[in-house]
Amino acid sequence: MKSTINGTTLFYEVAGNPALMPVVFVHGFPFSCEMWSGQVTAVEHQYCALTYDVRGHGQSNVGDGQYTIELFVDDLIALIDDLKMERVVLVGLSMGGYIALRALERNPERVGAAVLCDTRSEADSNEVKLKRAAGIASVKKHGAATFAEQFVKGVFAAWTFEHKPELVDRIRRVIARMSPVAIAGTLLALAARTDTTESLSRIKVPAMILVGEQDAITPIDAARAMHQRIPKSELHIVPGAAHMSNLENPDVFNEKLLLFLRRVSGT
Ligand code: MLT
Repeated sequence: MKSTINGTTLFYEVAGNPALMPVVFVHGFPFSCEMWSGQVTAVEHQYCALTYDVRGHGQSNVGDGQYTIELFVDDLIALIDDLKMERVVLVGLSMGGYIALRALERNPERVGAAVLCDTRSEADSNEVKLKRAAGIASVKKHGAATFAEQFVKGVFAAWTFEHKPELVDRIRRVIARMSPVAIAGTLLALAARTDTTESLSRIKVPAMILVGEQDAITPIDAARAMHQRIPKSELHIVPGAAHMSNLENPDVFNEKLLLFLRRVSGT
């Protein structure tokens, strides 16, 4: 459904019993909440699963395209406020992880546990900032379909391209449907995000870090570095996956997710 949240229209879905522990899934860039469908199916019988489209993505409003990670965190907190969810388990992949890490820093009282997937705490290097600038120029000139074509090449493992072409196609279509203004605006937000490394040692809640063994965007070293700093954290490497670990190897991803949720909910 769609609701006015923090001055914009956000699309979201709630599955499962609202009385049970809320698990909020935050997708990566430039995807949509549809990427979590396999995880929602896995958890909805035991928990309350909230998925939503980050501003500018999927069915949420694009607005002026002037985004920051700070604004995305404002949206997330406003959404869980609206749904009367006091303390949630945050599951964020890549950009979703950047949003989760900043929420943990800024609104720790709202996060009971976190699952940080294919993400990192460091801000962009100069090299990555320049790549973002090139991406902005390219999407403005050539449009979202061309951007999608290039983008999927970097996020899936070779095995996925060969054996799950329909999955690559599905994500390609999600990206191609995005507004170029939203893609450019989110690239700027990613480039401008703060570094959350220093606050990792202050995370008091249980955290699980998942990373695809072939993730080239947020590699295993970045995941290990977070694991070393977050006191109550565990790290799992997802075999046969690159950056889209929940989609490329949902069996291992869901098994780890369910075990973690069982532990933090005490069920
Ligand atoms: C994502 O999957 O959210 C993006 O690849 C993150 C990034 O480019 O840093």
